[in-house]
Amino acid sequence: MILSLVILICTIGFTACMKKTTAMKQEGPPFGSKIDVSYSQKLWDVLVKEKLVGPGIIRSVPYDGMEPHGVILEQLSTKIEVNDHNDIVYVKANYMGDGMTRSKVVNEPAAYLKAITVMFKREKGYDPDNKDWFWVKYKPDGTLHTNPKGMALAGRVAKGMDAGCIACHVDADGGDYLFNNTASHLD
Ligand code: HEC
Repeated sequence: MILSLVILICTIGFTACMKKTTAMKQEGPPFGSKIDVSYSQKLWDVLVKEKLVGPGIIRSVPYDGMEPHGVILEQLSTKIEVNDHNDIVYVKANYMGDGMTRSKVVNEPAAYLKAITVMFKREKGYDPDNKDWFWVKYKPDGTLHTNPKGMALAGRVAKGMDAGCIACHVDADGGDYLFNNTASHLD
């Protein structure tokens, strides 16, 4: 009796676990799929609500950046909740244009905002090879930038490739894929 109960519990546990693993796994390319795009839209809605993007954005002090991000950048980070998962997000506004200066960005942000690059720490197991980051490059209206092949830049962006978000950020100190930050201050 006890044995069969144990077997039953194990089976239920195993099935639930397998279901979860299967749900996390994605067929096909590591980024730009329908699932990635729809997740990026949910994430965008949360970012708008939290005033991390969009017209109500909390303005931070612009600083001089470098390629491939903007010439001038603003950056925000905090914890947010997407689909019941609460974790840290880094949001980088990338400003570019001729003769860029910080005051131009302060006075006329919309004219120079070219992209919003975001890293959101997903559920454990989302991408264990790369610290479970979700990478996304939005246009100012929340739609997605694409790579030269037309793939939407959302998901495990350019995983396994020689160039792109993961390939470059893997070189950041500390093994956390973050160049400017450590997430520890929010733990
Ligand atoms: C060729 C290298 C390179 C590529 C490719 C790259 N980044 Fe970065 N990224 C950096 C560097 C360097 C910094 C820190 C310096 C700065 O602020 O510009 C940074 C900073 C960031 C930050 C702020 C958190 C941090 O690491 O400090 C985010 C968010 C970010 N990048 C997202 C992305 C996303 C999303 C992509 C892909 C669409 C991407 N990056 C592609 C080099 C890269």
